[in-house]
Amino acid sequence: MKYTVIEVHNDRAFGKKAAQAFIQALRQYHEPDVILPTGNTPLPFYAALREMGPGKIPAFRYRQLDEYLDLWMGHPKLFLNEMKTNLLDPLEIPIRSSFNGAADPYEELMQAKKLLPEIRPAKIAVIGIGENGHVGFNEPGSSMFSDIRIVDLTESTIMANKKGWAPEDGLFPNRAITLGMMQLREAEQTILLVRGESKAQILAKALTGPVTPDVPASYLQMQENVTIVADRLALSKMPAGFNFS
Ligand code: GLP
Repeated sequence: MKYTVIEVHNDRAFGKKAAQAFIQALRQYHEPDVILPTGNTPLPFYAALREMGPGKIPAFRYRQLDEYLDLWMGHPKLFLNEMKTNLLDPLEIPIRSSFNGAADPYEELMQAKKLLPEIRPAKIAVIGIGENGHVGFNEPGSSMFSDIRIVDLTESTIMANKKGWAPEDGLFPNRAITLGMMQLREAEQTILLVRGESKAQILAKALTGPVTPDVPASYLQMQENVTIVADRLALSKMPAGFNFS
């Protein structure tokens, strides 16, 4: 296992360093497919990319990582809508593959599975980590060979993601569709973004504990090329003397 760890001291630096690491990865390919995450963690990263403006970033195509199910089309909390607002529309980034959380989920799963053999694995996966160690919506218990699929969200994920959910957003979904660990592990380069003290314990566990389905993020230990951009709080529980590279 080989990690490059970039430690930052504030959100602005987080955004800038993550953008630099991402652009450096993009430069190694010609218009690669890229998996990108949602959530709070990547917001400074997307802000930094937006500041650069369209055309200033090497071209790439977006592949959606995961999506809630059972919401209505145009729902503001659909991950695809968030991605369009935060990054895809302002930077005119083309979409290679996406989910439609409002469609019949099983139909959608069939279509996504049909598309997979036609497209090459994404070259770069940028991901976050859930407080329970999930990656995308690969919740604890996910096999390292898990495929794209429909999943039930765990109580811990529902509690974490419900914050920021307004009454007018309606009932919080308890199902989602996600790329599996298989699709994520196929990426040649992984960039893990982590911010805040609430992630410190799980980050230490994922990077230094056993590789186990109980902590899907621990599968990162099997990846060749992992860059971690994290703030001081997120790194605060790493064991002393841990060798990052
Ligand atoms: C969400 C998403 C993940 C994300 C994670 C952390 O549920 N499915 O892709 O990385 O949970 O979210 P946050 O960055 O808001 O803590």
